[in-house]
Amino acid sequence: MDKTTSIHGMWSSRLTFILAATGSAVGLGNIWRFPYMTSDNGGGAFVLVYLGCIAMVGLPILMAEVLIGRHGRMSPINTLRGLVRDSGVGKAWVGIGWIGIIAGILILSFYSVVAGWTLHYAWLYLKQLFGGAGITDPAATFTALLASPLELTFWHGLFMLLTVVVVAMGVEKGLERAVRFLMPALFLLLLVLVGYGMSTGYMGQSLTFLFRPDWSEIDGNVFLRAMGQAFFSLSLGMCTMMTYGAYLPREGISIPRVGIAVALTDTTVALLAGMAIFPIVLSFGLEPAGGGPGLIFTSLPLAFEAMSVGVVYGLLFFGLLAVAAWTSSISLLEPATAFMVEKFGIRRRKLAALAMAGLCWLLGLLSVLSLNVWSEVRIFDRSIMDFIELVANDLMLPLGGLLIALFTGWALNLTILREQLSEMPDGLFTAWRWLLRIVAPLLVLAVLASAVL
Ligand code: PHE
Repeated sequence: MDKTTSIHGMWSSRLTFILAATGSAVGLGNIWRFPYMTSDNGGGAFVLVYLGCIAMVGLPILMAEVLIGRHGRMSPINTLRGLVRDSGVGKAWVGIGWIGIIAGILILSFYSVVAGWTLHYAWLYLKQLFGGAGITDPAATFTALLASPLELTFWHGLFMLLTVVVVAMGVEKGLERAVRFLMPALFLLLLVLVGYGMSTGYMGQSLTFLFRPDWSEIDGNVFLRAMGQAFFSLSLGMCTMMTYGAYLPREGISIPRVGIAVALTDTTVALLAGMAIFPIVLSFGLEPAGGGPGLIFTSLPLAFEAMSVGVVYGLLFFGLLAVAAWTSSISLLEPATAFMVEKFGIRRRKLAALAMAGLCWLLGLLSVLSLNVWSEVRIFDRSIMDFIELVANDLMLPLGGLLIALFTGWALNLTILREQLSEMPDGLFTAWRWLLRIVAPLLVLAVLASAVL
């Protein structure tokens, strides 16, 4: 193995890869899920566990995924097959690829539904710009949206269509511009919102909620949610980064550097989102705790309504959030598509992408219906959508990550590792390897155990 190119195409430059990986990482996970998870899981303690997981578990696994991909050059399953053959280890490791592909399909199914909400909100603000009614009662607007299976299905379908177009063309085309200009725009907008947050006078209280841990709030479940959030936010554990690594040129890029850049950007965006949301929540007299999945949709419109050009901000915010979600959903669809392409032939890319997206769209209808018609249905005490999210995000991703860490740390040939990380100083390399061999697996196991027990 160790080919220099992939049949799926290659990133045109180092920058494109960094943009694509960041585009994958930054998405609804940072701006929708991080604030609401923080809100629902007690604030500071959750944030601290999340940050710890990013540094000790996420970053080492991120590097491992990219290097496995860059060595193998195929979709995760076939990359792993090749590595297993070359290293003479058990075939069972290929299961990592299967977990990844299944997790990706499950995640994309509800991800697209939530991304549809952001499209709907962008549309509401666009209409308002042309004289439509404002969102004066955000809670009612959100409830009305969730109550309508037709609207949800429409926006979910539209979003899936946008995703499949890019994946069908090959991820490199189309992706680059979106990430290069629109992501920085979203970043700036978040800064504006943080500025607005400061003007409310509630920033201090928000920072306390976000960063002062109250350990009495912590239990196994909070650990599980925080770790799942770390994996989800960095797009880890489901071979997305492995797939993107497969399209990465061999020369001129340092995997540790890229890993750090992606992890830092991703974490910064999540924290900024928290610092934008909570002052708004507090200043409008809402409770910071227990905001639920509707948090950004029920709180931000209050601020946009109060701002002088709020409609424009609202349109930009939800529009750009949809773009951020889009660059992530592309990376959710790509591993399964690449595998289908390898199985059924290179010319079938469009068909493969369409088939996988169609499957995700159909599965997404379960989430759509669980918000209204089937809202009473409970699986282990959760709605269908919550259950899929829990299983895929908080269980499958950490499990996939655990196996990737063990595989890289124990099973993979040392020369392959050293070759892929040739620019890394010996001491750091050893530290990284032991993080993968012992620390990350133990932490993941401990968290999984604490949630079960
Ligand atoms: N990281 C993305 C986000 O934060 C979601 C994602 C998860 C994308 C897993 C790819 C793989 O929105």
